[in-house]
Amino acid sequence: MGNNEHGIGNLRLFETRRGKGRIIYRLFAASVFVGILLIWVYRASHIPRYGEEGRLGWFGLLGAELWFGLYWVLTQSLRWNRTYRFTFKDRLSQRYENDLPRIDIFVCTADPDIEPPMMVINTVLSVMAYDYPPEKMAVYLSDDGGSYLTFYALLEASIFSQHWVPFCKKFNVEPRSPAAYFSSDSCNTIKDKELATVKKLYEEMENRITTAVKLGGIPGDVDLNHKGFSQWNSSSSRRDHDTILQILIDGRDPNAKDIEGCALPTLVYLAREKRPQYPHNFKAGAMNALIRVSSEISNGQVILNVDCDMYSNNSCSVRDALCFFMDEEKGHEIAYVQFPQNYENITKNDVYSSSLRLISEVEFHGLDGYGGPLYIGTGCFHRRDTLCGMEFSKENRTRWRSENDKPTKESADELETRVKDLASCAYERNTQWGKEMGLRYGCPVEDVITGLSIQCLGWKSVYYNPTRNGFLGVASTSLDITLLQHKRWSEGDLLILLSRYSPAWYGLGKISPGLQMGYCTYCLWAPNSLATVFYSMVPSLYLLRGISLFPQVSSPWFLPFAYVLIAKYAYSLAEFLWSGGTILGWWNDQRIWLFKRTTSYLFAFVDAMLGLLGYSETSFIVTNKVTDPDVSQRYEQEMMEFRTSFPMFTILATLAMLNLISLVWVTKRVVTGSGVGGFDSMALQYILCGVLVLINLPLYSALFFRNDKGKMPSSITAKSVFLAVSICTCSMYLY
Ligand SMILES: *[C@@H]1O[C@H](CO)[C@@H](O)[C@H](O)[C@H]1NC(C)=O
Ligand SMILES: *[C@@H]1O[C@H](CO)[C@@H](O)[C@H](O)[C@H]1NC(C)=O
Repeated sequence: MGNNEHGIGNLRLFETRRGKGRIIYRLFAASVFVGILLIWVYRASHIPRYGEEGRLGWFGLLGAELWFGLYWVLTQSLRWNRTYRFTFKDRLSQRYENDLPRIDIFVCTADPDIEPPMMVINTVLSVMAYDYPPEKMAVYLSDDGGSYLTFYALLEASIFSQHWVPFCKKFNVEPRSPAAYFSSDSCNTIKDKELATVKKLYEEMENRITTAVKLGGIPGDVDLNHKGFSQWNSSSSRRDHDTILQILIDGRDPNAKDIEGCALPTLVYLAREKRPQYPHNFKAGAMNALIRVSSEISNGQVILNVDCDMYSNNSCSVRDALCFFMDEEKGHEIAYVQFPQNYENITKNDVYSSSLRLISEVEFHGLDGYGGPLYIGTGCFHRRDTLCGMEFSKENRTRWRSENDKPTKESADELETRVKDLASCAYERNTQWGKEMGLRYGCPVEDVITGLSIQCLGWKSVYYNPTRNGFLGVASTSLDITLLQHKRWSEGDLLILLSRYSPAWYGLGKISPGLQMGYCTYCLWAPNSLATVFYSMVPSLYLLRGISLFPQVSSPWFLPFAYVLIAKYAYSLAEFLWSGGTILGWWNDQRIWLFKRTTSYLFAFVDAMLGLLGYSETSFIVTNKVTDPDVSQRYEQEMMEFRTSFPMFTILATLAMLNLISLVWVTKRVVTGSGVGGFDSMALQYILCGVLVLINLPLYSALFFRNDKGKMPSSITAKSVFLAVSICTCSMYLY
């Protein structure tokens, strides 16, 4: 490598630091583990004799506690060896500014109704304006909705980019999504008439696009002027159309210039062919079509993929990622660089816990210590060749190319015609696409399984989590959507565990044991539901009957229970605050933790099992990114949104009612002095039930006290009260 001639010796392009306080953490974890062992010993040695009350419940709790304990051991892999990365972009430009490789950026959208074209083009514009040589960048929009409104918006964006890109570079604007920039305060610092001009152009464009969306059609003059629109004909529908490919800005064309006369990045619109008789494989299929099409047009060696709702909040992210790939010592081992998924729509206390704070601030750093994070499908830079299935070998070092190695003689039209075939339905027949090449098919979390299979070929990945977020997305703002999203993730992860690529078996010897454990913590999300549902229901029912399942407060066996609970929750609170959350946010996170486990994970578990038996099909739900103002307002006020008759809500409400009934009934008996087998022996059960009621408080208010539209539908209220009363009655009198 050329470092010696530059005289900078062996200065690395990135630095890796271990998390602080690891020794203390490990001692602490060891002490908790001792507590867990003692709990197991207690459970196993105090089983009620045959015929004694509570024997069944006792076995259940033994099972649940074994599960929780073992799962806790697995989660240690996410905390044991936390690792942080730092980049040196100045060294990168000193050494390689003229040899920077080409990069292809994929933006995926799937449905113009729930992913509005304005949002999509803001993401596109934010990545077009990266601080990177424009002639080395190509941006591809994959539109699985096959919508001419999205195409129209992209066409408008390609024109607006001639003003926006030079404006960003001239004033060093951040962030480079126009919508985010114009609504931020930083936009007031530029007192230049150019700002007014650009802002006006943006608003006019926004106006034209939103009008077109509202009317469901585009202005007539535009329609006629661009040949792109001729590709939609009367027989096209979302699920049945030819490949639509349009190079909107051709970077090879000397006339493709912005208003300052500088080059612009290539911009391509692609709606791959869709036919009802061919499975389209959702986002994985779209990504694979993009990989092939881009290989003929720009063939960048590095691929960034972002979801259409995640704009770039940092114009230097490409350079950050290249610091890893181009590092002389370690770069050749790294297959992908994953950025965290951050959101801009998070309220202060994050009612739905949608920031996934612990995953991005703690757990992924832990995975990074063992070989790298999961690929989470957005905000991720890949090497093109690893994404296409290349195996790792020590000898094989990438030669970074800065030129386009594709012939430039063809015109854009000829190129389009030639390349279209690569996005056709039949192209993948009898090929390795979706199996050994590209993103893997057949799994609801195609991204995670793809990342895993890359790591199993010997590659490492890197987690880069800068203080200033690289990408910002839109978080879900209602409970049903949050729960559905988690259902899909947990179901997909469980299916990976049971698939050919199981991190437990297939990964054996291919990835480090720490990473195997890390993957398993996510894969076992769904089965976690069983132990949690049991724990949040059965002890309360036994409480109602006055049967004790936990040691007395005065017994020494009480200590391990108390220690494990207090230590675990004190630690979890401390960790949450340390990673930037609030106390109330932590409390909300605990609630969502419970909600997810008793509903999303349970549904996911059941569906996955049914699927294995051949009863259901995997489906992919695109989560809604538009919300009506009413809902937004309640979201801003951090009120939970119930509103729909969503089956998962029935479970939540029933569990909440059941615990409330137990608590009220038992409290009444304690107060009236009619005894419940002594408070001493029931204390832990009583506290558990009390905490469950406390955490469910928003549910009671949604069931009985709220009057706004976000309250629980009365059908669910009726159903859950009926169910809870029946369960309590049965458990008290039937046996
Ligand atoms: C996004 O970028 C801006 C600078 O443009 C920065 O001030 C802000 O903190 C970033 N947002 C997040 C959430 O990091
Ligand atoms: C996201 O938050 C911004 C600012 O808080 C708001 O204007 C916008 O409507 C929100 N978007 C959604 C989808 O809730």
